[in-house]
Amino acid sequence: MTHLLITRQLGTDLSSLEALATVDVWADRQPPPYEILQQKIPHVDGLLCLLTDRIDQALIHTGRSLKVISQMAVGYDNIDIAAATARGIPVGHTPGVLTNATADLTWALLMAAARRIVEGDRFTRSGQWQTWEPNLLLGADMAGATLGIVGLGRIGQAVARRAQGFEMQILYTGRHRGDPALEQALGVEFVDFDRLLATSDFITIHTPLSPETHHLFSDRQFEQMQSTAVLINTARGAIVDPEALYRALQNHQIAAAAIDVTDPEPISMASPLLELENLIITPHIGSASVQTRQKMAAMAIANLIAGLKGERLPYCVNPEVYA
Ligand code: GLV
Repeated sequence: MTHLLITRQLGTDLSSLEALATVDVWADRQPPPYEILQQKIPHVDGLLCLLTDRIDQALIHTGRSLKVISQMAVGYDNIDIAAATARGIPVGHTPGVLTNATADLTWALLMAAARRIVEGDRFTRSGQWQTWEPNLLLGADMAGATLGIVGLGRIGQAVARRAQGFEMQILYTGRHRGDPALEQALGVEFVDFDRLLATSDFITIHTPLSPETHHLFSDRQFEQMQSTAVLINTARGAIVDPEALYRALQNHQIAAAAIDVTDPEPISMASPLLELENLIITPHIGSASVQTRQKMAAMAIANLIAGLKGERLPYCVNPEVYA
């Protein structure tokens, strides 16, 4: 008998899986604790997991029958891919379907920070709105401002398209320069990281978390940014050093930040970041639209089924397993 483990309720029809296997769905709102995963994994042929599950080398080794790991997310820094590859286990993810939703949230945060929308809401609700004031809650213009995109992958490109509509100058940086035709279509200019930091009015992060990008933004980077600059992070929390971010916002080294991801997640209620007026925080909802989550679930299920049947995963992170 084939056994599947799904580490949370997805709110989607599982009949295509139930036709193939017994399906164990973790029913709590909180993710299964690591010890529970350790207990269950030896009996599991296919795992459908989320970014909140730590799928490390020890767990992958314990999964003696594991044929496929299917993550319902585009990012997969929670999974030890090398360990899965070493065991010949394909890992699936859900790229593409969440690009626009994540770019939309990035844009919403960027505009909210630029125009101080969350502060304005707090101001109004707390009864401080007395009159129209020439200098009340002044923010920044988008038109003509420079946007710096860190990582011009699918989501970075979708953000660039939005920035074109807002008449911004667009810079980008990354490990590789993009194709000139793409640069031209998006109206973007490749610059090194230092120049992006020094000249951008808004900086938005769209790079995966890896050892190279861990704390890519720390004190030195904030020192290079303009005092009027705004940082947006909808990628992964650990790309930004949270203590350095606190110092930069508290000392007005930069004007504001808006983040959908924190390190750790969820943010501790004791974090001093929560006291800052010039920081907006949302609870990792980049892909959280009804349609997008349905597409992600369908894609994760398709990857899982392919893996169980020994077919190539439609969206595979480690195609080396097929070499
Ligand atoms: C969400 O953060 C994802 O990686 O899909």
